[in-house]
Amino acid sequence: MHHFDRIDGALHAETVPLETLAGAVGTPAYVYSTATLTRHYGLFREAVDTHRGSLGDALIAFAVKANSNLSVLATLARLGCGADTVSEGEIRRALKAGVSGQRIVFSGVGKTDAELAFALEARVRQINVESAVELDRLIAVAAAKGAAPEIAIRVNPKIGAGGHARITTGGATDKFGVPAEEAPALYARAAASPHVTPVGLACHIGSQITTLEPLEGAFRALREMTLALRAGGLAVSRLDLGGGLGVPYHGQTDLPSIADYVGMAARVLDGLEVEAAFEPGRLLAANAGVLLSRVIQVNARSDGRTFLVLDAGMNDLMRPALYDAFHDVVAVRERPGEVGAYDLVGPICESTDVFARERRLPPLEAGDLVAFMGAGAYGAVLASEYNSRPLVPEVLVDGDRWAVVRSRPSYDEMWSREPKADWLG
Ligand code: LLP
Repeated sequence: MHHFDRIDGALHAETVPLETLAGAVGTPAYVYSTATLTRHYGLFREAVDTHRGSLGDALIAFAVKANSNLSVLATLARLGCGADTVSEGEIRRALKAGVSGQRIVFSGVGKTDAELAFALEARVRQINVESAVELDRLIAVAAAKGAAPEIAIRVNPKIGAGGHARITTGGATDKFGVPAEEAPALYARAAASPHVTPVGLACHIGSQITTLEPLEGAFRALREMTLALRAGGLAVSRLDLGGGLGVPYHGQTDLPSIADYVGMAARVLDGLEVEAAFEPGRLLAANAGVLLSRVIQVNARSDGRTFLVLDAGMNDLMRPALYDAFHDVVAVRERPGEVGAYDLVGPICESTDVFARERRLPPLEAGDLVAFMGAGAYGAVLASEYNSRPLVPEVLVDGDRWAVVRSRPSYDEMWSREPKADWLG
């Protein structure tokens, strides 16, 4: 569900015509809908609140990696959303956007000592420890600061899942988390240290997961481990269930709903008396954004292939090149005429700069606008300036108002980050 709909034949973001935004900001550009972000967070909050008895006062911590724009984060923060972060930069963004440290979770497989120290200073709610070596380093950093941060041990339950092999994180060979058989001993070791306070367990098994079974398996593993730890006299008061629920990129109607997903978690955790945390990224943001792009030219070749050459490239939206990801592409204003099959490509000098092959679209001409749907998560955050293309800007819409929330840099701004080595004169 999103708020990008046609009004009088032209696609709008809420009530703002995308044509207006393209004219004012130029293309390519990401456009986000406040109403969609708000709706998705609201559905999640409602589901979690319905199951307060089993999930406690659950934290919904938006996975900042999915969309770290400060205005997007501030929109969610105002609604009460927390933040799941994986770097000092993400913690800083969350704080700057108005998320209190007490609603920030710090995850990640490679936190540096400096980042751990920063997280302690920011008084984040919880640090998710992903390995024995990391626990040792955290203990040393915390001891030096006289702190005793609350931590969760991220367990690798050996259940990998996700929309693509490259976005699976819970499999036995994945780098993430502590192997399930080692986790209880590590938890006990943490409990024995005066410099950390183990409060719970965490997991995150993958992304774009479209059935509940693997998630349920992972949550059950956390439940079993909680009971085992408690039987050993250790306290476990929080379970962080990670993110990972998929969204309907293909217009699927059979995906688990937020209510199904949270309801399943509540059933698994029922009676444990823990406080749950969720780390949704894609679920909140994907359908809240589109990438707006203009057709540079239509290259109809004599071999029958028609290339629609867009002004957006793989540097602006990496997902198709990285994960063979599917994004629905629609004409902002449909022209009458016969549907054709287009290869949608960008201008980058790489053969992976292909968004889709033989996509069926209404007739398009140079200068027409198209929108990549479902681009609000893992879109702008993965963008680069490859081929010296200015970083793609971002626009946030709220009803009939809109703001540029990340501007397109000028070429001078780009060069200003590259001071010339003094010996080059
Ligand atoms: N928590 C942790 C610890 C994570 O590593 C992730 C995502 C999330 C939460 C949020 O997962 P989500 O709810 O968004 O599925 N760039 C890829 C996705 C990478 C996901 C990495 N971890 C893509 O565009 O499909």
